Amino acid sequence: MTNAISVSNEIKASALELIGNTPLLALDRLHPGPGRILVKCEFMNPGGSLKCRSSLHMIQKARERGELKPGGDVVEVTSGNQGCGLGVVCSVLGHPLTVTMSKGNSIQRALHMEALGAKCIRYPLVKGTYGNVTFADVEPALEGAMKMSEETGAFFVKQMANPDNIEAHYETTGPEIWRQSGHRVDAFVTAVGTSGTFTGVSKYLKEQNPEIQCFVVEPEGSQPLKGCPITKPLHMLQGASYGVVPDLFNPDLMEDSISVTDEESVHYKDLLGTKEGLFVGYTSGANVAAAVKLLNSGKLPKDAWVVTILSDTGLKYTPVPDNLIE
Ligand SMILES: Cc1ncc(COP(=O)(O)O)c(C=O)c1O
Repeated sequence: MTNAISVSNEIKASALELIGNTPLLALDRLHPGPGRILVKCEFMNPGGSLKCRSSLHMIQKARERGELKPGGDVVEVTSGNQGCGLGVVCSVLGHPLTVTMSKGNSIQRALHMEALGAKCIRYPLVKGTYGNVTFADVEPALEGAMKMSEETGAFFVKQMANPDNIEAHYETTGPEIWRQSGHRVDAFVTAVGTSGTFTGVSKYLKEQNPEIQCFVVEPEGSQPLKGCPITKPLHMLQGASYGVVPDLFNPDLMEDSISVTDEESVHYKDLLGTKEGLFVGYTSGANVAAAVKLLNSGKLPKDAWVVTILSDTGLKYTPVPDNLIE
């Protein structure tokens, strides 16, 4: 025994170091085969979702370029997860954060952002319902964020058009998947919001091996990426599939779009809990439903490995009293 103070290199310097490097997990109980589903556990990020990665990268790049000064204000429109990620990053780096969000997105996200010191302005629903948000519901929040940035000079993150959003996944999520799988990936599937995750990861994986097939996941009746007319705009995939083709989407990277119903998303969200011990959100359920469909489709070799994303924690969706929603 020594009295010297031990210095441990296992101590993280801040919550920023908790972002990324999430585990890649095999769903061998939920899907015993044929083939294998590997999931990237993005719900383990400190903001509870995949959006911590893009939050960190977009803010760091803006600071490096001088677009965001030390202590400068930040504004963003969000379905909640980007706001939670920015909440983590801005509180550590000392940037006051204001986020705008539709009232259709879960109240837990607003509470989470506020707990991280952010101001959250919620906008009334236009066409959607609580838990089912359309692009028409996002538009007022988008305009609100834009106006605020113009009036105050706050740095507007613009996740929907910011190439650093793609770069975050190209530089971290993609390489992690490639390394953690031992360079064995046959296909990658994921739901699309801004498309930062799909475009960044698919670009990286295809550069490593052009044979890797990449698929988007879209709700049945709302498949603009497949080029279909929208017949059912409302669905449960908060944060994804707004019925428009996102600016950051690169169609050249997509083999096809796999459709899932709300029932399938709920079913696989529940199976992730009961069979794998993972309490996650609806896009995670949708992603795994799509991975199972892909493995059963005959489009891949029988022993194929399919990688997908567990995007966020199920704690963001637990039922809440009506008076809190309003
Ligand atoms: C729960 C959830 N899943 C998926 C996505 C889609 O991610 P991306 O914006 O990178 O396409 C989001 C985006 O906010 C999300 O919140």
